[in-house]
Amino acid sequence: MSEVVFTVAIDGPAAAGKGTISRAVAERFGFAHLDTGALYRAVGVKGGDPILAAQTLEAADLQRGDLRSLEAGQAASRVAAIPEVRAALLEFQRRFARRDGGAVLDGRDIGTVICPAAEVKLYVTASAGIRARRRWLELGGEAGPKPFEAVLAEVVERDERDMNRADAPLKPAEDALIIDTSDLSIEEAVAAAVAAVIAARAASQGE
Ligand code: DC
Repeated sequence: MSEVVFTVAIDGPAAAGKGTISRAVAERFGFAHLDTGALYRAVGVKGGDPILAAQTLEAADLQRGDLRSLEAGQAASRVAAIPEVRAALLEFQRRFARRDGGAVLDGRDIGTVICPAAEVKLYVTASAGIRARRRWLELGGEAGPKPFEAVLAEVVERDERDMNRADAPLKPAEDALIIDTSDLSIEEAVAAAVAAVIAARAASQGE
């Protein structure tokens, strides 16, 4: 018997809370989760020709310990503007989205390009200042390697590049539910996402 195909697309800028929400939604509903930013990060840190790196990406590339660094994020954002890199990663993401049993994908273009037919589309955002503060605290705050202003500058630079590239720029899908996490606790943000999934599942079962 075929299981249910059900996709939750979660897009938004860096450090808005997409990862936390995606993992919580996947766990709550038993869906598989793909952090698509990790694909671009792996391409960005691999070195050499980014197009070739994307075309030959392997599972081991996604296990590297340095993928979560600020530098990997910047490198990812740069290679992500190359259309051939995006094209090389597209089919894998599409297949993942429609796998049996349900899937949550988080990234920048999931609801707009990878899976425009996703049953749930969320756009998770927060002000640049708040996102930079979260990233700065994650890195150790005052005891960490970078002053807050440097982290803020990187967040703003990455937003600019991701939102203004020609191919698959970051923007909400027209029918996305916007969740602004600036003033929400993690629990509140997760609850909003879970409620959207429950409503969409009820609607699809009622059809
Ligand atoms: O979500 P993240 O911070 O791990 O993403 C790193 C970079 O990868 C992001 O700045 C832009 C790029 N990216 C993308 O272009 N499309 C995606 N679906 C996911 C990430």
